[in-house]
Amino acid sequence: MNGFNVAIDGPAGAGKSTVAKKAAERLGFLYIDTGAMYRALTYAALTERIDLNDEHALTALLEGSALELEPSSTGTTVYWNEKNITADIRTDLVNKNVSLVSSHKEVRLAMVARQQALAKAKKAVLDGRDIGTHVLPDANVKIFLTASVEERARRRHQEQLDKGLPSDFEKLKEDIAKRDELDSTRLFAPLMQAEDAQVVDTTEMGIEEVINTILHLVKEQSV
Ligand code: DC
Repeated sequence: MNGFNVAIDGPAGAGKSTVAKKAAERLGFLYIDTGAMYRALTYAALTERIDLNDEHALTALLEGSALELEPSSTGTTVYWNEKNITADIRTDLVNKNVSLVSSHKEVRLAMVARQQALAKAKKAVLDGRDIGTHVLPDANVKIFLTASVEERARRRHQEQLDKGLPSDFEKLKEDIAKRDELDSTRLFAPLMQAEDAQVVDTTEMGIEEVINTILHLVKEQSV
């Protein structure tokens, strides 16, 4: 086996990054968090006060900067021009603006080219919104991970509380539903299940069960 790509797509809060990272670890595959790439650009654009509606300016910012993802024990360490921005890309402000930044076609084309180059000829698990439909239409395994809005909000709420941070469940639910809508209705490469993706609804599943389901689907394809 040379390259072998696993695409995991799905809406915000379905648990993609947690299970994608752990599944990659157990498989000995590289984990590529594509959401972190859009988040990094959003953070950099906000910091540099670039108009988030200006897709040329955003793409120029991306093309003129060094964006690096480095696997770490807690997930992915993200560097923008060698500065560690891992924590900065998970703020509320970035959450609120990342859908707009990632809706631009020119931005997406530049990101997709990078993601394809990162995955090429590698054994890798990529998680995102358009991996199975756009980035890697020939991925060996395609999974669409989902869960009810209620359950996704409940998980985010618990995560916040576990970190000792304030959290408003109803507000989280609204934010998640809003992001679903923006990601699913954007014109170019919306969040969509690939025809040949296997749907895994995690509403009633624990993390271990989801990881095992993914490992099972990968094993089925690699024999
Ligand atoms: O997975 P995440 O929440 O970190 O993703 C952040 C945002 O980036 C999400 O709202 C949609 C966008 N995204 C995308 O459009 N395409 C991807 N492949 C990954 C993320």
